[in-house]
Amino acid sequence: MPIAEIDLPVYPDECDAFGHLNQASFLTLFERARWEMLLRGPGMDVFTRNGAWPAVRKAAIDYHAAAFPGDVLRFYLALTHHGRTSFTMRQTARRVRDDALVATAEFVFVCLNRDGRPTPVPREFSEFMTSPQRGTADTRRYTINGVNLAVEVQGTGPAILFVHGYPHDHRIWAHPVATLDGYRRIAPDLRGMGQSDAPDLGYSMETYAGDLAALLDTLGVDEAVLCGLSMGGYVALEFVRRWRRRVRGLVLMDTRAEADSAEAKRARDVAAGTAREDGAAAIADAMLPRMLSGTTHADSPGIVEEVREMMAASPVAGIVGALGAMRDRQDATDLLPGLAGLPTLVVVGADDLLTPPAEAQAIVAAVPGARLAVIPGAGHLPPVERPAETTAVLRDFLLELP
Ligand code: MLT
Repeated sequence: MPIAEIDLPVYPDECDAFGHLNQASFLTLFERARWEMLLRGPGMDVFTRNGAWPAVRKAAIDYHAAAFPGDVLRFYLALTHHGRTSFTMRQTARRVRDDALVATAEFVFVCLNRDGRPTPVPREFSEFMTSPQRGTADTRRYTINGVNLAVEVQGTGPAILFVHGYPHDHRIWAHPVATLDGYRRIAPDLRGMGQSDAPDLGYSMETYAGDLAALLDTLGVDEAVLCGLSMGGYVALEFVRRWRRRVRGLVLMDTRAEADSAEAKRARDVAAGTAREDGAAAIADAMLPRMLSGTTHADSPGIVEEVREMMAASPVAGIVGALGAMRDRQDATDLLPGLAGLPTLVVVGADDLLTPPAEAQAIVAAVPGARLAVIPGAGHLPPVERPAETTAVLRDFLLELP
């Protein structure tokens, strides 16, 4: 969730001969939005007061649409990484008039003292940026294994832990999280995704699963139903490998148990290069056609755009980290026969091109007692493309748990 929303008008002197907001002005407006945010929070002098100057170390801006004099741009600001002396902010600019996405940017800052040496990020600033009140009423922030994670928690009752895929965030679970009354629904953004911190290094299936176990500890949850989609399924399988005792039921959605083939591993490295060179939007554009079903593409342009934006807003460090984690993940097929006795539901979109129904059938065949649910009309993201049908299948499974 954004920490702040700041509206700024575009002035004629900021535009080029054709009226477009020019590149230098984009940088200026992004910076002005940050100062405005401080003005409304700990004060514009929070850094000078603390003898720490936030020096920009890296700035990456993706331009999506032109902006003209008189347009009012709404800047959304979010913290995606917070270290001892550095932090990363993601900023998005949308035109207020039609909500068009105009630009997205990521800025990495290092705090320097008067001698130009790295110095800790001022505590007042950190508290302002990471305070739980910064999220929405239902999104909380927890520091887990040294990384600040954004987590949506709703309801009371037996716990369900929802694990999103790549490059997504917890919002893919919006429908079941909003509607599965009678359960405590826990939906984190994995490290590097959504509004969670995106450290440069330290991504693996073991780390993601370890974050989830530590999150459950923090929330006082001993046992949960684990529901993972795609990469979230890889994480769920790793979690089961290590903490099976804590898993009351398992839902594997649009995922697979095998490790990457040599060709798939090479494709991960190519994608990481694309993300580094061309940013998250290039990854989103490349994945979108195969991410959703033909029906969704034809009938639901709003969903298509939401998913594209979610992917395009993923931090590059998190994308690169997830690609490495997926490339290096263990094969989990050996685990499946041993899951006898663990209630397991396998769900797949009938038109999933990324992890087709055959992958789901292979898991069902290998896990004794597992059941299969195929969601018609859905591609790789059933909870987004066919939310009511997907939640109904989940509810039936939950109601049958011993
Ligand atoms: C996902 O949706 O998490 C990814 O498509 C999984 C993958 O690339 O293996």
